[in-house]
Amino acid sequence: MPSLRVLLTAQQIQARIRELGAQIEHDYPNGPVYLVGILKGACIFLSDLARAMNTPARLEFVGISSYGRGRSTSGEVKLTKDLDVSVESQDVIVVEDIVDSGITLSYLIQVFRQRRPRSLRVATLLDKPERRQRPVTVDYVGFQIPDEFVVGYGLDYAEDYRNLRDVCVLAE
Ligand code: IMP
Ligand code: MG
Repeated sequence: MPSLRVLLTAQQIQARIRELGAQIEHDYPNGPVYLVGILKGACIFLSDLARAMNTPARLEFVGISSYGRGRSTSGEVKLTKDLDVSVESQDVIVVEDIVDSGITLSYLIQVFRQRRPRSLRVATLLDKPERRQRPVTVDYVGFQIPDEFVVGYGLDYAEDYRNLRDVCVLAE
């Protein structure tokens, strides 16, 4: 049976998101800023982050599939749901749950650059820098974590555990 060990408590997560929200608010005082969440994992982080800032925000989502079986990305990424709106000349922040190999994000950054936003930044709740295979610049990082598989607060294992309030390490 898999077991769960709390890595980040709901309280720690919420406190850090308030800091990130304040930072984004400082960087984008006027808005609107387009928060583009990557389904499904980022949806919970995005909802809390959006409410942690007073800058007017627009909420958009993209879907991707990465042909990964189990716990990691295979390297092949495909857009399964595109943006519903143009972000040309807009300020865009891509919102991710976790940056692992960086494959997903480097692909998406390349896709979004072609849409000619005024600015393009990245926010992630979690970052596993040890696992990086592609260099990506992440502008807003919630927490750097060690190379362990985590679930909760949007993150899943085979679609389970997304609605846990804490981020937990999933151990066999
Ligand atoms: P990357 O393309 O390897 O950077 O992987 C990013 C995606 O892999 C994330 O959006 C997650 O969906 C998934 N992922 C990577 N590490 C974990 C983890 O520890 N728990 C759950 N999902 C993960
Ligand atoms: Mg995922």
